[in-house]
Amino acid sequence: MYPIHSFDTVPSTNSLAKKLAENGAPHGTAVIAANQTEGRGRLGKNWHSVAGKGLYCSIIVRPKLSPEDFCKITLAAGLGAAVAVDRITGGFSQLKWPNDIFLDGKKCGGILTESSALNESAARRFAVIGIGLNLSSSLEDFPEDLRDKVTSISLQTGICPDASHVFLTLRDEILQQLEMFSSDGFQPILASWRARDFLLGKHMECVRPDGKIIAGVSLGPDNEGQLHVKDLGGRTHTVLSGDIRLAEKNKKPLDE
Ligand code: BTN
Repeated sequence: MYPIHSFDTVPSTNSLAKKLAENGAPHGTAVIAANQTEGRGRLGKNWHSVAGKGLYCSIIVRPKLSPEDFCKITLAAGLGAAVAVDRITGGFSQLKWPNDIFLDGKKCGGILTESSALNESAARRFAVIGIGLNLSSSLEDFPEDLRDKVTSISLQTGICPDASHVFLTLRDEILQQLEMFSSDGFQPILASWRARDFLLGKHMECVRPDGKIIAGVSLGPDNEGQLHVKDLGGRTHTVLSGDIRLAEKNKKPLDE
């Protein structure tokens, strides 16, 4: 049995899970909350939590992986989350690099993975996989500027899923993907991830942490999980991190 710590409201399930992990909490320990007051997203952004209408959880993992492989955990977790969403909805969810969960072209969930220092001893090394999933939120629950980009499981499918059931499904699928990663390596995970790649072949822009914008067509993740983008001059860029958005040009055929 994996320990579960449930709360009504916390600042951030990831922050709490990190503290538990630093104090030795075992693999599979989870923190779940019905609401977060300081939910965190990737790249220092806020995560908008809607009380009682979403799943906000963080899972502590201590996989048997080399430190170099820890950065790939986030793709494996995204794949597990997408498989879990499909089990709940009966549909086919997609992944937008690195690990946004998409239903019918709109974001219904995101993942923030945070790791311990990678030079920690294997016994102390951990990652916290934080998942935010919009379950029964309506568009009015989101800030106006996000409404054309986000969705929830109930908006897309009419299904109003139970948060505890979704959590257990997510946790099982994510832990299973990590088991497979440790035993069979990253390639099978990557192959399944690529089959769900929302950005593949689309025009996109990536705003890198240094502010530089790379515009081009997504070629998908490479064998290390890093995104390749072919710019309009034909040069291929490797993206390690950044804010990815679809380009307006994407609405036109690629050969125009
Ligand atoms: C993103 O899309 O930028 C990632 C969002 C991750 C949000 C989840 S909600 C549960 C966990 N706790 C946090 O503070 N963040 C993650």
